Amino acid sequence: RTPLVIDTDPGIDDALAVLLALASLEVDLQLVTTVHGNVGLPETTENALRVLHLAGRSDVPVAAGARTSLVFPQPERAGHVHGTAGLGGVVLPPSPAAVDPRPAVVALAELLLASEQPVTVAAIGPLTNIALLIGVYPEAAARIGRLVVMGGSATRGGNVTAAAEFNVWADPEAAAAVFGAGLPTVLVGLDVTLPTVLTAEGIARFAAAGPVGDRAAAILQQYVDHARSSYGVDGVVVHDALALTEAIVPGTLTSVRRDVVVDTGHGAGRGQTLVDRRTPSASATAVAVAEDVDSEAAVEFLVSRLCELAAR
Ligand code: BDR
Ligand code: CA
Repeated sequence: RTPLVIDTDPGIDDALAVLLALASLEVDLQLVTTVHGNVGLPETTENALRVLHLAGRSDVPVAAGARTSLVFPQPERAGHVHGTAGLGGVVLPPSPAAVDPRPAVVALAELLLASEQPVTVAAIGPLTNIALLIGVYPEAAARIGRLVVMGGSATRGGNVTAAAEFNVWADPEAAAAVFGAGLPTVLVGLDVTLPTVLTAEGIARFAAAGPVGDRAAAILQQYVDHARSSYGVDGVVVHDALALTEAIVPGTLTSVRRDVVVDTGHGAGRGQTLVDRRTPSASATAVAVAEDVDSEAAVEFLVSRLCELAAR
């Protein structure tokens, strides 16, 4: 089993992503690190603890990371999408576990340096913690086996501004540092997440499979309502869960190595990922950009894994 760390800002789709990892025997979730993002750090950390407890896995350590972006504070949170406490208005029972006393970067560095096997890191929030790891513990960052990032957009424009995807927009300086670090990075952006829609029918399947599935469906309800009222779509895009699918089964998405530049200016393009799609890149700092997805298979993977978790 591949050792896995999830760096996350739960967040509705983050919660689904964590549950998907726990449902998947290909990976061994050894650490969750939390970051500011959808809501503030105290909420994302509490939510991470509670989601793990929901799945009976409060043994997985949770270490809290950055409270704010590297340089400029994120302009606003995403409470209108995820609910002010982050889990769509659902209050999960508190976990008996306490937060790990170590800062996220310390916990992550220690795990990377101690692991005998290459570790996959799935980063599904703003990239502040990962940028700090690269800056403070470069020798640990260099040991990351795969870094799967939910972030950016090559062809779809943005979701939080016309130009920018939320996780990159929330800390563009951190994203620039991470994408330029020469790590084995896969970028799972809006190009592949937006076409991958989880429908009400899929949600109903895991809701009926057991209490964990029922709670997961309840957490999703606010996302479903938001999608219907904002975009007129029936179904939800669970961005972070698709990134986890690629972390769990490498190669699920078709990726091409590209040069990616993050717009760190202060104009309308701030947080945009400029992906050079003219030709695949041979540069050492290129990242693999996910460009194609079998959305039906990806949704079926998520739904069936959540059904299995709920039936355990
Ligand atoms: C990303 O932004 C957040 O709101 C989601 O949790 C996801 O990580 C999608 O752009
Ligand atoms: Ca997220």
